[in-house]
Amino acid sequence: MAEVFVSKASDFKDGDRKIVKTSKGEVGMFFEEGSYYAYSNTCPHQGGPACEGIMMNKVIDVIAPDRTYQGQSFSDTRHFVCPWHGYEFDLKTGQCWGDARVKLKKFEVVRRGDDIFINV
Ligand code: FES
Repeated sequence: MAEVFVSKASDFKDGDRKIVKTSKGEVGMFFEEGSYYAYSNTCPHQGGPACEGIMMNKVIDVIAPDRTYQGQSFSDTRHFVCPWHGYEFDLKTGQCWGDARVKLKKFEVVRRGDDIFINV
């Protein structure tokens, strides 16, 4: 396992991300609400740059207790969307929303002082 320097923590604002080249391929690191997440930037579908897609909240159907459809809203769950074909990945887990068999490879993020590293 190798440690790869990503950035100074002080250079990262909430909502920022950075793509880093490593010996294991590109890794996308995200910073959201005080937490860091790092995933392979290679989409398991067909190899697209999954971590470079738009970030958004999940769209959910609102269903009343009587099972009638009330419209749509946004959940608190953040995810990013692969720009090639639209697979959506949960920010905290890397799990694909549309297919439970698909998940991005996750990497450990280590912060030492103001330096942030990923273990690949
Ligand atoms: S390559 Fe990512 S959705 Fe197809």
